Amino acid sequence: MRIIQLTDSHIGRAGETPLGIDVRAHFRQVIESAVSHDPDLIIHTGDICLKEPTEEAYRWTADVLNECGLQDKIIGVPGNHDEVIQFAIMLDLEGQIKYSDQAELYYQYELDTQAYDLILLDSSSKAISTNQLSWFRNALKEYQKPKLILCVHHPPILCSVRYMDQHHRLENGLELMKIIEEYQDLEIDIFCGHYHVEKTIRYSMNINVHITPSSYVQISHDAPGFVLDHSRPGYRVIDLIDDCMMTYVVYID
Ligand SMILES: [Fe+2]
Repeated sequence: MRIIQLTDSHIGRAGETPLGIDVRAHFRQVIESAVSHDPDLIIHTGDICLKEPTEEAYRWTADVLNECGLQDKIIGVPGNHDEVIQFAIMLDLEGQIKYSDQAELYYQYELDTQAYDLILLDSSSKAISTNQLSWFRNALKEYQKPKLILCVHHPPILCSVRYMDQHHRLENGLELMKIIEEYQDLEIDIFCGHYHVEKTIRYSMNINVHITPSSYVQISHDAPGFVLDHSRPGYRVIDLIDDCMMTYVVYID
């Protein structure tokens, strides 16, 4: 089965070109390229909106997905620039919203493979809530397959991307990793966005963290401030063949 991960679309107002980028054109290019890979499933790991969430950005994104026939193939989790309910409505995931202090979108998603299922966590508040952590703890206790794909907008560990690690890291990544680390026999691949870089970190014998580039722009790994690296839009292909995973990033020139 083939999964495509899209992330950090950052759609602004119509005609807006942040950093000189036609963000909507970038998103269309990524979607068209993704379709040519014939995916079984697309996962958007958050930040549909540029800064403040707007209804129009979600409506425009939903229209593009519809035009490309992807409405039934896409799931996702929101980022810190998303409004959870609008994000869920866009992807027909209202049934997965959990209501406690705030609305959150986290859930398990069954894949048609022997080895893997998906768990998607909501870090749109820049942390994983206490309710969510206890749901995740229980989900792992009941988890049946030998391998797991975990999707969350923020990487839960430091990633040697100076500006993002210092200013925009997940606030309670350590708490999440403490839960994950109890499962040393479970092979876990964590797919994130948020950092606007491409990177895979072999965290331990059984845990890999993959950061996927944005469809907007990518930033420098080393600079102390926000410095552009390049503006080629990117996305990730994840192929699951029997119990094996192959993953790579595609950029559009
Ligand atoms: Fe983000």
